[in-house]
Amino acid sequence: MSAPSELRIEGLRAAVKGRQILQGIDLTVRSGEVHAVMGPNGSGKSTLSHVLMGKPGYEITGGRALLDGVDLLALAPWERSRAGLFLAMQYPIEVPGVALVDVLEASFAAMGHDASLVPSSVRAEAERIGFDDKLLGRALNVDLSGGEKKRNETVQLAVLRPRIAILDELDSGLDVDALRACARRIESMTQADGLGVLAITHYSRLLTELKPDVVHILAKGRIQRTGGPELAEELERTGYADYVDEEPAAEPAKARVLDPSAHPAASGAAFGDAFADPFADPLA
Ligand SMILES: Nc1ncnc2c1ncn2[C@@H]1O[C@H](COP(=O)(O)OP(=O)(O)OP(=O)(O)O)[C@@H](O)[C@H]1O
Ligand SMILES: [Mg+2]
Repeated sequence: MSAPSELRIEGLRAAVKGRQILQGIDLTVRSGEVHAVMGPNGSGKSTLSHVLMGKPGYEITGGRALLDGVDLLALAPWERSRAGLFLAMQYPIEVPGVALVDVLEASFAAMGHDASLVPSSVRAEAERIGFDDKLLGRALNVDLSGGEKKRNETVQLAVLRPRIAILDELDSGLDVDALRACARRIESMTQADGLGVLAITHYSRLLTELKPDVVHILAKGRIQRTGGPELAEELERTGYADYVDEEPAAEPAKARVLDPSAHPAASGAAFGDAFADPFADPLA
């Protein structure tokens, strides 16, 4: 096992389109630890994962994030990946024309590893989580079902062996058998390889196999409470009523007149920066 790693998030604040989403997040994940992050829809969980991985469009308005002392927020997404950070996206994107093995071989080469090991490693990891190897030859995530995409993410994680993995709702879409297999595989990596995990989830089921050391409740852009595994069980019973404001009475919808010149396509902005955003849907 290599030297222990640490992802340290301090006072992280971020805004999107002028709206403050993350209001100051403090969280430290070390090698071998599993931290679950749970919270209501729209509370900022995916925003946290995007900001940490470097998805464009977010403005960092305060704080910092360090991986083994390196300022992650100053790095391009691929540099963060090379530094040992991995993100399994809530909605994995489809990349036509690029096979999974090609991506992983390029990643291995970029890290100075022997890329010839990739095909056998991919096959072994796919078999371990019951992922049909017929699907491995397809372009990345293209025409895969929701659950197959999540298994595909798990194969990538297991082959790449990052130091810290962020799993954004890895469990969504997985059937019970696949969920158990993927969660077990990741749990074994925490023990054998010292993988540190930040697991965003809505359900404690993921956490029966991927055993959290710590559970955080993220609501309104802040960690509102931190506890042990029992906190996940408590949330299933109680929900988030204690952590969110009362819903204001819904206003009746007003008719809006759209200004066609305000659409990004009208200015060409929708296409001009297509290759600057590695998270963008290439078919959009
Ligand atoms: N690019 C964006 N433009 C506008 N608003 C955004 C953008 N990205 C996120 N938001 C808003 O930020 C808030 C937080 O979104 P986020 O995706 O982080 O929530 P979440 O906690 O992951 O929710 P869920 O449990 O539903 O996945 C939401 O209100 C969302 O609408
Ligand atoms: Mg989300």
